[in-house]
Amino acid sequence: MSHLSTVFVTGGAGYIGSHCIVELLSAGYEVVVVDNFVNSVNGPDGESVALKRVEAITGKTVTFYECDLLDKTALENIFAKHKIDCVIHFAAIKSVGESMEYPLLYYKNNLIGMLNLLEIMEQFGCFQLVFSSSCTVYGEPNFLPITETHSVGHNITNVYGKTKYFIEEMLEDITHANKKWNIIALRYFNPLGAHPSGLIGEDPIKPFANIMPLISQVAIGHLPILTIFGGDYSTPDGTGIRDYIHVMDLASGHVAALNMLQKSHQNYKVYNLGTGQGVSVLQLVKTFERVTGTAIPYKIVERREGDISVMYANAELAERELEWKSKHSLEEMCVDFWRWQTMNPDGYRTKSTKMTNGHR
Ligand code: NAD
Ligand code: WQD
Repeated sequence: MSHLSTVFVTGGAGYIGSHCIVELLSAGYEVVVVDNFVNSVNGPDGESVALKRVEAITGKTVTFYECDLLDKTALENIFAKHKIDCVIHFAAIKSVGESMEYPLLYYKNNLIGMLNLLEIMEQFGCFQLVFSSSCTVYGEPNFLPITETHSVGHNITNVYGKTKYFIEEMLEDITHANKKWNIIALRYFNPLGAHPSGLIGEDPIKPFANIMPLISQVAIGHLPILTIFGGDYSTPDGTGIRDYIHVMDLASGHVAALNMLQKSHQNYKVYNLGTGQGVSVLQLVKTFERVTGTAIPYKIVERREGDISVMYANAELAERELEWKSKHSLEEMCVDFWRWQTMNPDGYRTKSTKMTNGHR
């Protein structure tokens, strides 16, 4: 059992947070979780449906509060009730398109939420933080595979991505000013998949925009066809290339980061969490079809505005220093996501009201 025993998890009812909590509980940590359900499903009694299932998977208890990070007093009250040793900050809104339409909403939620959290942590003498950053901070890569030393903040094509970059800058600044801070920012590449039990997975409130849920919506018949953005990139099959990583690998990356924070003082460190493998959209579609036995009709249209062409990680730093490495294959990402989808055709919701974008 770790001496950082109680982890405060923000945004823990969401996709990555819920999977990470399974790993945290399995590693012996206790968790206190907050979420405001802006992008996750709540049950009739204000509970998180995903976290109830996490309790079923692990046989352990999740302490949960419905709380908006913009409500600093509510946050303060929770910190006053629990002895928090460490924080993992997942809570953010993440829709790239929406962030261009409502930039103030994104700056307010993501930046003020982070500021409130940091101030409350400081007030309660808690200085250990793992922050959910994103490969989006790199912009269009100058070289591949991309290392943590690659420039960040240039040509970020959307407001959401800028909130991640601005927060990284903020975190670096506070660690310069106060050496007590012990912070790791994890730059995730593209998470896919679900817990192998099929009990938890990805079920956002906001419309789907990422590739895997859309493929799966086509496979299950909620959407007629997949739209592939761009067939004229300088890649072997013309479609965009990404570094897809199983969400359970991301989850174990957080446990590795917490272990590192407790082992030695980091001040401020940044790690890529990816597999190091580039996979094209068509390769992903074909793999999904092959391992699930489904057919995914698709049409190739023009490039999506703001999309980069090729992005994949050099994940050696995390391997060397965090002793973490991704284990799960692309096939497992597809099979596990499909299991979640077929066991829960309507996600965490019981009543299905199909919408035109394939979402309920
Ligand atoms: P998600 O939307 O499923 O989870 C985020 C959770 O935070 C949601 O449950 C939402 O309700 C909650 N939340 C948002 N604002 C809040 C607020 N003000 N107060 C309380 N709760 C709030 O998203 P996810 O995919 O699990 O992403 C988790 C984190 O990882 C985010 O910070 C995201 O930006 C980052 N990230 C995600 C990806 C990805 O592709 N999924 C890639 C890189 C980084
Ligand atoms: C993957 C590939 C698309 C949908 C986004 C955010 C990034 C990070 C991860 C949080 C691309 C193609 C997609 C579709 C398609 N999130 N695609 N048809 O764009 O790499 O990254 O999520 O930090 O910040 O920008 O992920 O899943 O949207 O796209 O052809 O209907 O699939 O063009 O090549 P992306 P994605």
